[in-house]
Amino acid sequence: MNSKPLHVACIMDGNGRWARKRGLPRTAGHTAGEESLADVVRVASKRDVAYLTVFGFSTENWVRPRAEVRHILGLHKKLFGRISELNENNVRVNWIGRPFDEPGSRTPLYVQRAIRKAIEDTRSNTGMVLTVAFDYGSRSELTRAAKHLVASSDDLTPANLQRHLYDASLPPVDVLVRTSGESRISNFLLWQIKAANIYFTERPWPDFDSVDLDAAIALAKN
Ligand code: FPP
Repeated sequence: MNSKPLHVACIMDGNGRWARKRGLPRTAGHTAGEESLADVVRVASKRDVAYLTVFGFSTENWVRPRAEVRHILGLHKKLFGRISELNENNVRVNWIGRPFDEPGSRTPLYVQRAIRKAIEDTRSNTGMVLTVAFDYGSRSELTRAAKHLVASSDDLTPANLQRHLYDASLPPVDVLVRTSGESRISNFLLWQIKAANIYFTERPWPDFDSVDLDAAIALAKN
């Protein structure tokens, strides 16, 4: 790496619209979205991206139709199962979300296992850190962090609150990407995007490619 390593975060929107435009079921859009993510991971790992954080499934997404939720969960299992590809690209897998053993957690065991295995099997990689936000919501993260901080004897300071986030080691986001023409934040990384650039694109996530990624990176570097 010859310049500042970046933290890129993505809200991968528009899978459903991508599918509808092609007369396909929404699930086909998510399948294409997973393929797109695998490509973006490969490309990003070869750029100056030290951290890539993606919004895989939110605390709000559980209310989607059951078949769609099941499909998206299956895609997470598939993504976390791409171990040899991740290892080839020297990518270390990480996860943020509602802890499995805490009240409110709904993550099924097979997804828990896939997450744990991917983290374990990629833990010695030294390149880009891929953090998947699964069963993640920023307000839940911040409320939980505040509760933990209040329960400790530490002062209520930003630095102390940061220590109680799901992953305190995640650096600030340099650029937040949102695809598919939406310009909302959707309860994603509210703490971490404090000073982030925001890259909006009309393209739906399944069409997001290296040209878009490079444009987002350029925005963060200017
Ligand atoms: C938004 O599309 C995307 C999601 C709800 C997140 C799921 C993302 C994927 C399945 C991509 C692969 C990622 C992982 C981590 C396996 P949408 O359904 O909101 O699209 P719409 O707004 O066009 O309906």
